[in-house]
Amino acid sequence: MPREINIDLEGKVLVVTGGTKGLGREIALGAAKEKAKLAVCSRSEDFLENLKKDLDSIYDDQNDYYLDTVDINEVNMLKNFSNNIVKELGEPDVLIANAGVTDQKHHSLVDLPDETWEKIININLSGTFYTIKTFLPLLEKTRGNLIIMTSLLGQKGYGKANDAPYCASKFGLEGLAEVAADEYEGKVNVNTIFPAEKVNTNFFSHLSKEEREKLSDPEVIVEPTLFLASLPTGSLTAHSLNAKKWREDLAYQKDLLKKSRKEN
Ligand SMILES: NC(=O)c1ccc[n+]([C@@H]2O[C@H](COP(=O)([O-])OP(=O)(O)OC[C@H]3O[C@@H](n4cnc5c(N)ncnc54)[C@H](OP(=O)(O)O)[C@@H]3O)[C@@H](O)[C@H]2O)c1
Repeated sequence: MPREINIDLEGKVLVVTGGTKGLGREIALGAAKEKAKLAVCSRSEDFLENLKKDLDSIYDDQNDYYLDTVDINEVNMLKNFSNNIVKELGEPDVLIANAGVTDQKHHSLVDLPDETWEKIININLSGTFYTIKTFLPLLEKTRGNLIIMTSLLGQKGYGKANDAPYCASKFGLEGLAEVAADEYEGKVNVNTIFPAEKVNTNFFSHLSKEEREKLSDPEVIVEPTLFLASLPTGSLTAHSLNAKKWREDLAYQKDLLKKSRKEN
């Protein structure tokens, strides 16, 4: 990472929802390499077991991470998860609300089954709301960072045909982030991040091997996410970080670094 980007997560407690696959997994491994204390959840035990193997090759001490089976739609599971994190690792400094799903069949509005709408809104929007509602009071104690994974399809002007529930949920998350940033101004930085490109994860498991090879690697999300995770209190907030622009446009990256230091 360029020297100018200050990634300082050593000993910080960092939580990733949906951190067992795709982008979340890459962020979790990146944070582990930066010596953060890590908590990860997802619904599938098998994938948590796989992650555990990789974490054991990074951490010297198994007490530095905590993995749990949690459905972000289940408020009680989230509550237990947060209580256990405090017990096992300490108060969370960073929450990366990353868990999300999509409609791989890409139905048009009128063909969209109600159950598909409900499933995606329930997980992406309501589940993320339950997650941040659970963790914000803890992040307030540590004066930490909340990062919400959205999408290019959640940005004004990028609503796309045949993606109604996904776009609606991600637009909703951008709004939710603005509300949280306003309510917690000066106490918790609240930012969103989106890859702004198709990343080779389970979201594209319906494509052929050749098609998937043309997509970006999940690695593209790591540096800008860890940059947001390292922000000091009262720094950059209510920003939607475009990860592709961060990588390709040095002026954009420099401007964010300047804003994070409150230089303008
Ligand atoms: N891939 C892209 O190109 C792309 C682009 C823009 C934004 N994103 C966003 O990036 C985030 C991660 O997506 P991805 O592409 O990495 O997909 P992925 O590989 O399918 O990973 C999704 C993760 O979320 C977890 N998850 C799903 N529903 C959950 C629930 N109800 N409770 C707890 N965990 C749950 C999954 O684990 P379980 O299934 O085991 O629960 C998995 O770990 C999503 O918010 C997505 O919208 C992705």
